[in-house]
Amino acid sequence: MSTPRFHGKTVLVTGAATGIGRAIAVRFASEGANVAINYRDKEGEVADTAAQCRAAYVAAGVEDAAALPFQADVSVEPQVQAMVAAAVERFGRLDVMVNNAGVQTQSPSDETEMAAFDWVLNVNLRGAFLCARAAIRHFLERGGGGVVLNNSSVHEIIPKPQYASYSISKGGMENMTRTLALEYAGRGIRVNAVGPGAIVTPINSSWIDNPALRAQVESHIPMGRAGAPEEIAAVFAFLASDEASYITGQTIFACGGLTLFPEYRGTWAS
Ligand code: NAI
Repeated sequence: MSTPRFHGKTVLVTGAATGIGRAIAVRFASEGANVAINYRDKEGEVADTAAQCRAAYVAAGVEDAAALPFQADVSVEPQVQAMVAAAVERFGRLDVMVNNAGVQTQSPSDETEMAAFDWVLNVNLRGAFLCARAAIRHFLERGGGGVVLNNSSVHEIIPKPQYASYSISKGGMENMTRTLALEYAGRGIRVNAVGPGAIVTPINSSWIDNPALRAQVESHIPMGRAGAPEEIAAVFAFLASDEASYITGQTIFACGGLTLFPEYRGTWAS
């Protein structure tokens, strides 16, 4: 069996308890990486993720890698610093930081409570910056570069009425991706993002288990279906790998065509 692609590397995935974060953690485990699986409150949140990572190691024939839980609310600076320090101490190094943790709330913008607005910005944008900063500090200190990957959204570029805080956070994430990429390109650090479309995860519980609502959502997607978390995890693995060694500052949209102006499928104006 050939050596798995990420063997000897350590990847930290924030918000790894569920959904896309869990799929990313399992994907990296299946390719031999040590995985620091972040949870916000209780270690039990990532028990399933850890079990799936262990199964992935067995399936890949990897015996000397581990997936371990690390606590941090990504929006709380000392918790992020402690998490990264603990992961570096346990695994000896960090190679890839995946900023996946994210939240959203819905309300007409004129009725939005600022506490809800701040919560979304604090987790999605401030949290991603705090984690990126901690990872970059480590990359600079140990030398040899590293990778920061952000889980953005199609709403990085598509406005989302009634979810202004979410859209704003992902728009900011695009700028963060490009700014950090430019700032550290000369020091071996690549910074990229993935922009998922509608993916079957708990964040979309309002429609994924309701056949009528799901059909309505999927009717807007050019490829005709919602995506699977594993299809997003595959893009993270690519961007973390040496296959993407010349890519930095980019968002790769994995969205079944949602960013292609689907309303223009038919020619309705010329
Ligand atoms: P999810 O709700 O299953 O996952 C979000 C994760 O973030 C949860 O595990 C949660 O515990 C964690 N989290 C929330 N606040 C946190 C905090 N303060 N500190 C640490 N962890 C925290 O939803 P999903 O879909 O897996 O979302 C993951 C990322 O993917 C988010 O950034 C989301 O914006 C993004 N995304 C999801 C899409 C989808 O259709 N599911 C589409 C586009 C982007």
